[in-house]
Amino acid sequence: MDHMRDVTLEKLEEVDRVGKGPVGVESEPEDDAEGLDPVDWSATRELGHRIVDDLVERWRTIRERPVWQTPQESVRAALRQAPPEAPEGAERAYQDFLNLVMKYPTGNLHPRFWGWVMGTGTPLGAFADLLASGLNCNVFGANQVACLVEQQALDWMKVIIGFPADASGLFTTGGSMANVIGLAVAARSKAECDLREDGVAAAPRPMRIYASTETHNCCIKAIELLGLGRRSVRLIPIGDDYRIDLSALEDAVSEDRENGLHPFCVIGNAVTVNTGAVDDLEQLTDLCRDHGLWLHVDAAIGGVARLSETGRRLLKGMERADSVAFDLHKWLYIPYDAGCVLVREAELHRRAFVNQSEYLSALPGGLAAVPAIFNHLGPELSRSFRALKIWMSIKEHGLRRYGANIERNFGQARYLARLVEDAPELELLAPVSANIVCYRYRGAKPAEGLNEINKKILIELQEAGIAVPSHTTLGGRFALRVCITNHRTRFEDLHLLVEETLRIGRMAEGIN
Ligand SMILES: Cc1ncc(COP(=O)(O)O)c(C=O)c1O
Repeated sequence: MDHMRDVTLEKLEEVDRVGKGPVGVESEPEDDAEGLDPVDWSATRELGHRIVDDLVERWRTIRERPVWQTPQESVRAALRQAPPEAPEGAERAYQDFLNLVMKYPTGNLHPRFWGWVMGTGTPLGAFADLLASGLNCNVFGANQVACLVEQQALDWMKVIIGFPADASGLFTTGGSMANVIGLAVAARSKAECDLREDGVAAAPRPMRIYASTETHNCCIKAIELLGLGRRSVRLIPIGDDYRIDLSALEDAVSEDRENGLHPFCVIGNAVTVNTGAVDDLEQLTDLCRDHGLWLHVDAAIGGVARLSETGRRLLKGMERADSVAFDLHKWLYIPYDAGCVLVREAELHRRAFVNQSEYLSALPGGLAAVPAIFNHLGPELSRSFRALKIWMSIKEHGLRRYGANIERNFGQARYLARLVEDAPELELLAPVSANIVCYRYRGAKPAEGLNEINKKILIELQEAGIAVPSHTTLGGRFALRVCITNHRTRFEDLHLLVEETLRIGRMAEGIN
């Protein structure tokens, strides 16, 4: 370091003496491009404070706002304009954000947002994202503290899921990518050929994977991506409880084996997206062990529910799976995006993705003193510091408080189910075992066109900004689907939902 200073000083002295560039060196070209850092740091500080103030005010008053608003035509038009050639400045960019974006988000900060499977985020989680972007670490690996934070947060994930301390894992963008990675490890570990080297065409027997008909489409996409093809998936029927039919599964595995196929993996579901069912993971694990199959659990929704008493009971067996994919941006209320995959056998995880690249190899010191660890565990090289918001959020609230919030959501789903059962004009369309309630308006007397009426109810609930359930269709019946991964929901919000469903339903039927 001192040596560098000396060289620089020597050069500068030389420039002073001669009055132009150092001997034998051209004078430096002019720095004529405008830089990207602010010229006025105090204006930057002031803008930053205003952004935080505006956000905090939004969070504080979220309950008083409509859950959702559709972006107006003027907004859509503004968002079709070509990029500016000349600088518009940070202030103008922020004003545009306030006018065009801030008013029309998805709505999932709101206490009455229950659509699809969306988490509600937290203030500190958002601040942590700001800090992560501010430091702009690339967490592919290397000798940097961000990797230590990620490793610690991953160790905490093993505690939550009940995996051994020497298991391996990786934070991902979400459940979809976590499933891709888990299933890639399964396929590459169980294949009867070297899948990475020779591809699936080299497999002596066609590979087969099993999942219930309620499995999320991202798992099917993962199998397509891995080159196994959709035909390699055998969908297994479900029982009345929407859980995988274990004897049908066992029969399918035996039949395929007899027919010369290679059964290698079962995907278990820990809270299905349609109705919130949880496969019998205890029995599924036993079945997989007996048949030498890899058990991968898609626990995108339910994984973290293991922090609650109800969750621990429902998810029993998940801790014995070979790999688990789960989300933190759903039921751990961490801001998007944050998913995770855990693999029981660390070496199998590494072998499925490790690569030998000179430019990523380890050195005895410096920033490359640690091999590129995370890059060896998945397909991505550059990775954001998303672990920071997970790490800071868990520090802020502790696992017990998260468990209590999840438990409350379970209780709220049960409560909503009771409200529906108590209202003769409403009916439940699926059993409620976790945090998802599927119901519909059925009217005072049996009516034609209930699907259309329930569609109207859903659209009106959303467009009037009252509440956001989403929808699904169960046995041909259009269902209003309420998925509670919301730490802001109160029991009174569920009463309002029921009252408004009845009001809009009666209006749609022409009853006043
Ligand atoms: C059961 C299930 N698996 C996987 C996913 C995909 O997760 P992500 O949206 O985080 O990619 C979802 C998303 O809702 C899901 O419900």
